[in-house]
Amino acid sequence: MVDAPSYGVGTDWRRFEPVLLRLMDVEGSETLSVYRDHGGYTALEKALAESAPDELIELVKDSGLRGRGGAGFPAGLKWSFIPKDPSLPKYLACNADESEPGSFKDRYFIERDPHQLLEGMLITSYAIAAELAYIYIRGEFVHGTRVLERAIDEARQAGLIGKNILGSGFNCEVYVHRGAGAYICGEETGMLSSLEGMRGEPKLKPPFPAVKGLYGMPTVINNVETLACVPHIVQYGAEWFKSIGTEKSTGPKVFCLAGHVERPGLYEYPLGISLRDLIEEVGGGMLGGRPLKGVIPGGSSTAVLPPDKLDTPLDFESVAEAGSMLGTASLIVMDKTVCMVKAAANLAHFYSHESCGQCSQCREGTTWMAKILDRIEAGRGRKEDLDTLLDMCHSMKGTTICFLSDSAAIPTEAFIAHYGEEFEQHINEGRCPITPVERLR
Ligand SMILES: Cc1cc2nc3c(=O)[nH]c(=O)nc-3n(C[C@H](O)[C@H](O)[C@H](O)COP(=O)(O)O)c2cc1C
Ligand code: SF4
Repeated sequence: MVDAPSYGVGTDWRRFEPVLLRLMDVEGSETLSVYRDHGGYTALEKALAESAPDELIELVKDSGLRGRGGAGFPAGLKWSFIPKDPSLPKYLACNADESEPGSFKDRYFIERDPHQLLEGMLITSYAIAAELAYIYIRGEFVHGTRVLERAIDEARQAGLIGKNILGSGFNCEVYVHRGAGAYICGEETGMLSSLEGMRGEPKLKPPFPAVKGLYGMPTVINNVETLACVPHIVQYGAEWFKSIGTEKSTGPKVFCLAGHVERPGLYEYPLGISLRDLIEEVGGGMLGGRPLKGVIPGGSSTAVLPPDKLDTPLDFESVAEAGSMLGTASLIVMDKTVCMVKAAANLAHFYSHESCGQCSQCREGTTWMAKILDRIEAGRGRKEDLDTLLDMCHSMKGTTICFLSDSAAIPTEAFIAHYGEEFEQHINEGRCPITPVERLR
């Protein structure tokens, strides 16, 4: 590892040096030799030589690291739920399913910096006493699967994976398991069902996976980016991690910036950078200088924010206060040429297609939501449609086995709340008010 970049809460984001994406422009970044040339695996050495597993759990708790997979659950706290009973096998499952529309950050770690992820997984496995770790990877990531498998082979040959890792007595195997293209397999219990060889159907919680997970045994499930943060926390310490970001949302974050901006892409900044700075400075401003109409801040499951929320800091608390969720920090920026009914319908179709069908509110709700939004968009909407949609959304939230149903309802409610007039215009005028000429402007 190189020296820790110095930082401090409240420091201008412009002075921030990438931590997680530090090898972005380095050729051969996916190889063990290049990773080691940049200090890779010294955190694993340090963890195995200097820390007891419980100390690592405390360290990660102290750092304030929160899950980067969507829900923002504190990582160290999750690890601490793993029972200490030595007779029980424990597992780590890395969630590399990355299917949330808007999110493309995990793919970077998988394809370009797989050893950063593996190092994080090995330290986490040691902390929770897991001797088997799985990477559940999105089926479409064929190249990523090959890169990861090569990286695992290289690490195994170097004594970093397998028996008696670095002479420490700790054993750990890592396997890659490919999904088959279902979004629901990113939901943690759906992922476990799929890993066990069954249909990727979510299970009721509790029991939570930390108590009864893979094959009924204690299992930690963490997102790729969450695990990639771990080596840096071990190397530089909890205080260093806390010096980045805000008081409650600590650390660096990879932002996926997509849609109508001049420079879409992956950017790493401290949590708390404002939406305005990310769009106007980092992203080079709105595409063609056109006015902003709305931003989905955290991936498709999060509520769209209108332009008056542009000064919202992008951290877990502030985005929630603004009426949405930071989620995976995957921003979809939309300018005035976007028909918000069409955007809502598009998302509803996604959720309808991806619902596993176990719960009626979700199976029927997502299907009818897509149908009603389609008819409004086509100019065949009925006066009562908006009330019907809002009633449906209400009954789809908090009533199902997993959060997919809520994830479908939340965006629809937000589109209606912020762009209700546009929905009404579609219904009253019997057509989409965003003309093709306007779209070209
Ligand atoms: C429908 C659905 C899809 C999800 N897809 C993903 C995914 O692709 N990747 C991911 O890391 N988390 C996904 N999650 C969140 C996981 O259930 C889980 O919270 C996360 O993997 C935990 O890791 P973290 O604590 O490190 O964020 C999804 C959740 C839901 C409800
Ligand atoms: S909420 Fe939807 S996706 Fe989740 S278990 Fe129920 S039917 Fe399946």
